[in-house]
Amino acid sequence: MKQMSHLDDSPSTPGKFKMDKSPYFHRTRWQSSVAKLAFWSLVFVGLIFIFFYRSPSSNPVSSDPSRRSLRTYSWGGPAWEKRVRSSARVRTRHGISVLVTGAAGFVGTHVSAALKRRGDGVLGLDNFNDYYDPSLKRARQALLERSGVFVVEGDINDAALLRKLFEVVPFTHVMHLAAQAGVRYAMENPSSYVHSNIAGFVNLLEVCKSANPQPAIVWASSSSVYGLNTKVPFSEKDRTDQPASLYAATKKAGEEIAHTYNHIYGLSLTGLRFFTVYGPWGRPDMAYFFFTRDILKGKTISIFEGANHGTVARDFTYIDDIVKGCLGALDTAEKSTGSGGKKRGAAQLRVFNLGNTSPVPVTDLVTILERLLKLKAKRNIMKLPRNGDVQFTHANISSAQRELGYKPTTDLQTGLKKFARWYLGYYNGGKKAAS
Ligand SMILES: NC(=O)c1ccc[n+]([C@@H]2O[C@H](COP(=O)([O-])OP(=O)(O)OC[C@H]3O[C@@H](n4cnc5c(N)ncnc54)[C@H](O)[C@@H]3O)[C@@H](O)[C@H]2O)c1
Repeated sequence: MKQMSHLDDSPSTPGKFKMDKSPYFHRTRWQSSVAKLAFWSLVFVGLIFIFFYRSPSSNPVSSDPSRRSLRTYSWGGPAWEKRVRSSARVRTRHGISVLVTGAAGFVGTHVSAALKRRGDGVLGLDNFNDYYDPSLKRARQALLERSGVFVVEGDINDAALLRKLFEVVPFTHVMHLAAQAGVRYAMENPSSYVHSNIAGFVNLLEVCKSANPQPAIVWASSSSVYGLNTKVPFSEKDRTDQPASLYAATKKAGEEIAHTYNHIYGLSLTGLRFFTVYGPWGRPDMAYFFFTRDILKGKTISIFEGANHGTVARDFTYIDDIVKGCLGALDTAEKSTGSGGKKRGAAQLRVFNLGNTSPVPVTDLVTILERLLKLKAKRNIMKLPRNGDVQFTHANISSAQRELGYKPTTDLQTGLKKFARWYLGYYNGGKKAAS
């Protein structure tokens, strides 16, 4: 027998719903019910009005469960719009106006500053989450502020905010760097990867596809999409269907999602597979960064090795080289072909490796750090755990060389020297990091 639920009582077509007329309907009762209904409707409308229009600079938290994890950020109002416009104003004849998501992040800060330096309009967006020390993100924000880049505090899942930004500025380009990064953290907080790298990316693309004009989008994928691929160096044509971590899987999903939005809506999309980026203002969750911190503190560092004492190596890529690759991708990005959500023709869809083409064993990285810090590291050699990290990365960059003019010029020794100088200055000789 079919089980009836209370849901079965609702009309399937709302427009056809008719109230039953009861023969026992009493006129006065009817009048008092209407009065009550009118009263409570007024109260309800009043509450909604207060909730939404409390202040011009607040955005509501959606009742949509997929967006409940959004923190409320304050945005909007004439002064805020003025700052947005001024930050995104193009200062050269052929400049572009770029919305940089993840602008308070490591790569985002460097890319935003470089764009601003050459006269492009730049507006940053970042949710300042606490995956790593938010005070470092605030310090990067202050740095950008001084060079005239405003970083709006907000989440890429907030469609109302994104629509507002496109209403205020007709961005020609989006440099999408906001993401939940890190391989091991995915086992602790998997939903943060889905929230930022999948739901957030789709939300951003939805707003971009409806914008008029549609922007061209350059976004950060990752070398991690090569996963268990053993053919080296990694070429864009190699298989990427064996991710070794949830992080990698969400980046791979991003590449498939990019294909869909390009195919259906004519969005111009370029994915960049970064290979272990390092440098000043870097990320504290990355090995070169926490090795430096721990060597300075005299703490033992864990260095991984593969099966049979196999070398673990990374194609470390210096931040300035990555920035040049990002700018090259923005400058060669063709316009999106759609408008107002409708495709008008085929649009550009690209993916490039941005690496250094010279993998360095992690043990050598430690030796360079020891020399630069003038301290001996306490090394603890451990087996590489099977929780996301791969043993080896090595980029084939011939496509980026040919099409973006990408040519990395910084070796690990030179790049780490610049990082160590920054680290010691920023953390006041290691004192701030130790506290
Ligand atoms: N650094 C690397 O070695 C490396 C390697 C491969 C790929 N990538 C990718 O490059 C991009 C930049 O990486 P990074 O090293 O600068 O990382 P990062 O964590 O320093 O920067 C990302 C920024 O995005 C912000 N963010 C995260 N989720 C957000 C959301 N939902 N809404 C708004 N802001 C959000 C964070 O607060 C952070 O400031 C990321 O997409 C990352 O996955 C980086």
